[in-house]
Amino acid sequence: MPIQLMRQTDQPLYLQVAEQLRQQIESGELAPQTRLPASRILAKKLGVNRITIVNAYAELEAEGLVTSRVGSGTFVAVNEDAPPPASPLWRGTLSPRRPWNANQMVAEMMRLARQPGVISFAGGAPASDLLPVHELRRALNEAMRRDGAALLQYEEAAGYLPLRETIAAQLQQQRIPVNGQDILITSGCQQALDVTLNVLTRGSDDNLIVVEDPCYLGFLDILSAHRMTPVGVPVDAQGMQVERLEQIILRHRPRLIYTNPSFHNPTGTTLSLARRRALLEVATRYGVPILEDACYDMLYYEGQPLPSLKSLDTADLVFHAGGYGKTLAPGLRIGYLAAPSAWQERVIAAKQTADILTSPLNQHALHAYLQSGHYDEHLCLTRRVYRERRDLMIAAVQRYFPAEATWRCPTGGMYLWLEMPPSGPTATDLYLAGINYNVAFAIGSVFSASGPFSHALRLNFATPAADEIEEGMRRLGKAWKELLTRSLNVPQPSQRCAVPIL
Ligand SMILES: Cc1ncc(COP(=O)(O)O)c(C=O)c1O
Repeated sequence: MPIQLMRQTDQPLYLQVAEQLRQQIESGELAPQTRLPASRILAKKLGVNRITIVNAYAELEAEGLVTSRVGSGTFVAVNEDAPPPASPLWRGTLSPRRPWNANQMVAEMMRLARQPGVISFAGGAPASDLLPVHELRRALNEAMRRDGAALLQYEEAAGYLPLRETIAAQLQQQRIPVNGQDILITSGCQQALDVTLNVLTRGSDDNLIVVEDPCYLGFLDILSAHRMTPVGVPVDAQGMQVERLEQIILRHRPRLIYTNPSFHNPTGTTLSLARRRALLEVATRYGVPILEDACYDMLYYEGQPLPSLKSLDTADLVFHAGGYGKTLAPGLRIGYLAAPSAWQERVIAAKQTADILTSPLNQHALHAYLQSGHYDEHLCLTRRVYRERRDLMIAAVQRYFPAEATWRCPTGGMYLWLEMPPSGPTATDLYLAGINYNVAFAIGSVFSASGPFSHALRLNFATPAADEIEEGMRRLGKAWKELLTRSLNVPQPSQRCAVPIL
């Protein structure tokens, strides 16, 4: 499998590798089902970064020329258009060509973020240096000592009642009128979203769901798993453009309006109070339930946060989903759902069907941790550090990026949404160039079912340390300048990979 790289040309190394492998596959030199060398081995052989090979393989996979099987490696795909061989030995091993979906994007982002040496602004993880390891270890020990075998048994599907009561007390402080019985413990906020979709869309022919455009990628993925179609409402400085909703409701009869109103993923914007009221008003008038994703609500950096939709809801139509993934530790996998009263039994049943219950070990430990009184302190520290990192990132954007790049300063959360000049290279071009400098971010277009935002970048400022923010943004700025200087050689749209690689 000879591959020769030319380092003096403008063509990125990963494209050179992909092109030569493509030729070898198309000429038959590399036969179907041939196992390609592991990326680490080929990278070593060619003297390049492993990510170069990973991206070359991803490029070929997007074209359907290779398939990767978890734990086994990357294989030359069988040509589906070619006549089947006389003996159908390949059946059962051929993975069908699947469109690149949100799930794969998330997986790819998380994988890339873990590559050694890469400064990643791509993922949605909280900062590792802030995870309260010692306090959680103490809480786990305390829970084990106190409740012993009960933690290792099945418990009530709705969750550990003392934890539900503690969460209800936290929500009451935000003027959400709930008690412990109204709270369903879920496996992360993600499952609270999924359970809501599950109960609301069951047995229904209407399959349209209103979402912000752009929208949280993991929710788009839930929609596709439920065979639901998103109807996107644009987002501006005040959040979702709620004034467009009535038309959409009359035209599409949506089953649900999903919104992430505070510190929105991916744009960082917050729905204004006037729009919160207008949203509730229109949803109440037409009886459309709202799913409020509140997972960033506690990460506010400036003054007091706006009231949640659930706290303003007089018609009992808001499903309020939250969790401790962004504010404490995503590995605990604990979220919650406060559903309207008419839906509470159904959401518990759906949760039970999904996974019986959320780990009692983690639930009891979280309860012990919240009882210990460390959470408020931890939240204060997290807000302060994330706010500093946000400011550092904005300063770095001003230092290293072109003056035409635009952004809005997020007043909380974890993300900066940066829009690059539309006349310049796309976010995908920059991503690919950035990877060669060991820096990654999330490409804006992946957050939209309709496909725009080709020049937008979502930058997570919370995860990297201060020096990484400075260095990562410097590298990205350099990659941008380099792209500009050779813009004549940037592939034309038809030659670009149709699928953003993340
Ligand atoms: C808007 C939004 N909702 C839900 C989730 C899922 O959170 P959890 O880890 O608590 O399941 C995420 C994670 O990135 C998110 O950004």
